Parts: sequence; C-alpha cells; structure tokens
Amino acid sequence: MSQQDVHWYPHHLDSQKAVYLAIVEAIEQDLARGVLKGGDKLPAQRQLAARLGIDFTTVTRAYQEGKKRGLLVARMGQGTFVRALQSQENPGDQLIDMGMNIPPLPQDKRLIERMQRDMAQVVLRLPEQSLFGYKDFFGTFEDRTLVAHWVAKRYRSAQADNLLICPGTQGTLLALLGHLGGKGISICCEEFTYPGFKAVAENLGIKLVGLAMDHDGILPSAFEDACRSQKVRALYCTPTQHNPTTTTWSVERRHAIAEIAKRYDVVLIEDDAYGFISDNAPEPLCSFAPELGYYIAGLAKSVASGLRVAFLICPDRHFQQQLSQHLRATSLMVSPLTKAMALDLIQSGCADLLSAAISKAARERQALAYEILKDHSFRADPNGFHIWLSLPPYWPEESFINRMRRHNIRLVGSDAFAVGKSFVTGVRLCLGAPNSVEQTRYVLNLIAQQLKKPDDYQNAIV
Ligand SMILES: Cc1ncc(COP(=O)(O)O)c(C=O)c1O
Repeated sequence: MSQQDVHWYPHHLDSQKAVYLAIVEAIEQDLARGVLKGGDKLPAQRQLAARLGIDFTTVTRAYQEGKKRGLLVARMGQGTFVRALQSQENPGDQLIDMGMNIPPLPQDKRLIERMQRDMAQVVLRLPEQSLFGYKDFFGTFEDRTLVAHWVAKRYRSAQADNLLICPGTQGTLLALLGHLGGKGISICCEEFTYPGFKAVAENLGIKLVGLAMDHDGILPSAFEDACRSQKVRALYCTPTQHNPTTTTWSVERRHAIAEIAKRYDVVLIEDDAYGFISDNAPEPLCSFAPELGYYIAGLAKSVASGLRVAFLICPDRHFQQQLSQHLRATSLMVSPLTKAMALDLIQSGCADLLSAAISKAARERQALAYEILKDHSFRADPNGFHIWLSLPPYWPEESFINRMRRHNIRLVGSDAFAVGKSFVTGVRLCLGAPNSVEQTRYVLNLIAQQLKKPDDYQNAIV
C-alpha cells in the first residue's frame, strides 16, 4: 500500500446526524487525531458505500460536503484525496502547538547568544562532583541566599532559611500536596485551573473544590462557603495572570481571600508562574498571610521552561525541612546542572534580561491579537502570552478545536482546565508557540477567519 493509499473507513458514525454529515464529521475527527493526513487517498465511493451498507449517492454527497469545507480534493481519474495544507508562514505544514503555554522566544539574538555562552561556561566551571554526581539536594545556604535575594524583589518573605530550589513547579506541587496530607484531603482552587495541578491532585487522590470566579479572581463568598461546609486543607491559585483566564486579582481581593484563609486555617499555595513577567501585579497573595503561605516562583514562564527549576518559599524553616523530605521522596533533587545554570543566570543579571525580553515579545504578540481579534470576545493581559477566547454560539468548542487542528494548529479548550463540569466554553491561545511574529499573525488571522464561519454541522437541515 502506498503512503497515500489508505484503506480508511469511519469506525463510528454519529446516529444523530444525517449519514453524509456523519461521514464528514468522521473525516474531520480522524484528521484531528492524525489517523488521516494531507495527501491520503479516500476509498472509492462505491467501495465505501458497500462497506457501510449505504447508497453510494450518500458517499458522493459526503465527499462533496468535504470538498466544500476544504477538507478534500478530487483529482481527475485518480479519486478523492485529503487536502494538504501549505502556507508561506508554515511551509512545512508543521503542527503549531498553541496548547503549550511556552514563552515566546526573545527576539534579542545577542541576549540568546550570551545566555548560551554563559551556560557553556557553567558546565566548564562546575567541579566534577557536581557535574557527574549528587550534590546539595535543594541548594547550599549560599545558593539559597542568592535566590532569596532575587525572589524577595517580588515576595518579601523569601529567605535562605525558608527556601528550596526545586525541580520545576510540577515537581514542587507533587511534593507539596503529599506533604499537606495527600490522599483524601480537599483542596480549593479556581473553577478553571492549571491542568498540571489537576493531574497531580488526581494522581494523589486529592479532592478538588472548584471556586467560582469573577473578573477580579476567586469570589470570597465561594471560598468562605467551601471552608464552612467542609474541611478544606489548602487553596491553590494563580492570582497573577491566571491560567487560562488571564485574570490578575486586585489587592482588595487578595486581602479578602487571605483573611478567610486565616479564619479557617487554610494553607495557601500560590503559583506565581507569571508574576515575574507582570509589570504591575500587586504583591503576592502570600504576603497577606505569610504564616500560611507556600509561594512558588517557577522559572518556566519568565526565564526558560526547559531549565525545570522553581523556587519554593515555605512559611518557615520548620516547614522547609519537612518539605525537603517530601522532595527527596518524589524527585530526589533538582538537577545540579540546571540548578547551577539557573543560579548563574540570576547572578549575572541574565535572568532579569530574559524576563524583560519575554515580556517585550509577549506585548508585541498581544498587540497583534488586539488588532486581529478585535471583533471577537477574549481576555488577555498585555504582558502575558496567553489569551482566553470565547467562542461564538455557533461554534461548539470541540468542533472549533478540530477545525483548527485540521489547519495544524493545536488549541486547548475549557474542559482541560475545568474542575468538575464546566458550562462556560472557551479556548486558550498560547501566543508563545508560533516561531515568529509573522507566524503569530498568520495563526491569528486564520483563527479570526475561522471564527466568522458558522459551523455547517449546526446549520444543516436533516
Ligand atoms: C500556572 C502554571 N503553573 C506551572 C506551570 C508549569 O511550571 P513548570 O514548568 O515549572 O513545572 C504552568 C505552565 O503552563 C502554569 O501555567
């Protein structure tokens, strides 16, 4: 069988739909899943009709509909093929994964070169024991003093004694939730939350309680109700540039939530992943109740995701010691190599330059989004690199995601973030994923163009 000549047939046809539309939907879904690719040849109409036990005119109608939707092309004397998409901005027709919230690459070539040189120097300078062995699990006192000084620019309670250098935010959350009690405890969080946090909680058997939000953050009444009606161990939240809604809580909201946490003795876990790229974010939530606060400053969004380094500030030295035991149990230690690189970036000032360059690149992309998506409803932070886009009523979330996937653009919808059943739909666009400003423009134009098109499925009269 040639690569193009696939013996495709739909494994499932939606019985609620007219058969020809159900076939088109199956094609669209298999394209999204990668079962079908551009250039693949579909079975001859009579062959598919015989296989499905339907009249061949139904298949003809399905293929015609597929052509109308830009999914299929007919070639004279050869048959019907899946259409291969090509564009100048995405010439290799590569997947643009806007489902991963990575920062845009700073456009400053000299800065990147400096970072590469510095990192190479770190490896050359490292003593052999650090390069090849196990060393200083979560940072020496000197390492932690350096980091505390840097983190204190944003969170004043950071000190060498209450700080740990951890293997990324994800690794920190795993150890922290275990430390707080693991299986069986209840943790509150925003009604939409970072999927990595959901995954850790599920993995540990922790019950999540999603709290309603408005445009200013978690509703204090929702938090208080939860604390009153059940034993809540902790609140996990991202009060600055929330993922995915982009909300930054006001000072008043932070204060109100911290007061409730104090009243009910609920631990605060603040994930400040985006705090270091925010121009005017209020003081962290933990500043309002440091005695209850676990503050996580990951470097993934403000310096480099691949370093896998985050800093955890515990309420005090006692909890820092306990946490280090949990970190040992879950990941043994932060990689000495990337730890050394992160510390060097901080010491040389390169980390701050990178944060500034990421913010600059993010602002440029946000400005494009404001221009191109101006007729649509979305939320964004001008310094951030993700957008929370509301879909028009004629675009079911899954269909829109599938449609964009057909254009080799991966988006993530509200289900991935929702804690429990979500009645709000939306998709998150990660503007850091395209490899250039031009590619960002291309993707945003494509999204704007697709948003205007009503979904034919819904409008079909059957
Ligand atoms: C709120 C939040 N926390 C943490 C992370 C990931 O952090 P890390 O790469 O340090 O594990 C992300 C990534 O999208 C995030 O949005």
